[in-house]
Amino acid sequence: MRKVTVVGAGNVGATVANVLAHKDFVKEIALVDIKADMARGKALDSFQQAPIDHYSTRMMGTEDYRDTANSDVVVITAGLPRKPGMSRDDLISTNAGIVNAVTKSIMEYSKNPIIIVVSNPLDVMTYAAYKVSGLPSSRVIGMAGILDTARYRAFLAEALDVSPKDIQALLMGGHGDSMVPLPRYTTVSGIPVTELIDSDRLNAIVERTKVGGGELVKLMGTSAWYAPGAAAAQMVEAIAKDEKRIFPCCVRLEGQYGLNDVFVGVPVKLGANGVEQILELDLGANERSMLAASAAEVRNTMDVYDRL
Ligand code: NAI
Ligand code: 2OP
Repeated sequence: MRKVTVVGAGNVGATVANVLAHKDFVKEIALVDIKADMARGKALDSFQQAPIDHYSTRMMGTEDYRDTANSDVVVITAGLPRKPGMSRDDLISTNAGIVNAVTKSIMEYSKNPIIIVVSNPLDVMTYAAYKVSGLPSSRVIGMAGILDTARYRAFLAEALDVSPKDIQALLMGGHGDSMVPLPRYTTVSGIPVTELIDSDRLNAIVERTKVGGGELVKLMGTSAWYAPGAAAAQMVEAIAKDEKRIFPCCVRLEGQYGLNDVFVGVPVKLGANGVEQILELDLGANERSMLAASAAEVRNTMDVYDRL
């Protein structure tokens, strides 16, 4: 892939850029921030890691959107993170202003990028980037499900004393406490997890996952970055290499699961064209109603955005 832009050179943005550079499949990364010297400094620091860790990706820090021209993929991480006591939705008006402005500037210099949104509240910021960019919905994707499932998989690996590598899982719904866990789709190297752990322990892990972001905010006074950064980089990789990987991502539903014009996490196929397929699972009645409730919560915050 020729060019990736990462907007926001804070904790998550710098991590996305650094993980991508290590993967060594992008020619050039533009790291954009209103704190231009910080973006320049982090880009320089990251490039000075290249001789040690052996990669060729060039990285440049900037505040000038002309430097983002002709990006293939853009990752938007600009915006405020949560502080203790805040919900993701508390960030809506500030971050909507930032994501709107960033998306507009990106579209001035890149004709047909694929945009991956990370800024919170995630589902609504993905909607904002979709509306402002005018791109087809297959090219505007929110990152949350990979992170939420990674947390769930890590907790399970710890509880079962197995490698996190062997845990496959799926979560759906919005990126918030209403996310919809689907334990019946969780396996450990193909073995249904329900054969390996009792339901009380599994439920406790599901509940911990739902508030997994908040657990880290309490510990660190700000939100997480290593796993979020790696998750966004994994999405870029699937697109750049046309891998057709199946990930839970936040996308616009257009009738799938009986839901319309709402951005919510569902399993999708990611490839060179962005979202190449939305997979529709045969959900049980309870799962379907949890998904509908989660989507209704997102719809409410989308309405708040529309009224701003
Ligand atoms: P951070 O505060 O470390 O970095 C944010 C950066 O955005 C700062 O460097 C700031 O200068 C920059 N920025 C602000 N306005 C800008 C603008 N108009 N143009 C360019 N840059 C601008 O925050 P962090 O931890 O990197 O988090 C970034 C966002 O990602 C937050 O909204 C956070 O809630 C969200 N997040 C989402 C996750 C998800 O699962 N979707 C996971 C973790 C964080
Ligand atoms: C997280 O889940 C805050 O959305 C961010 O870590």
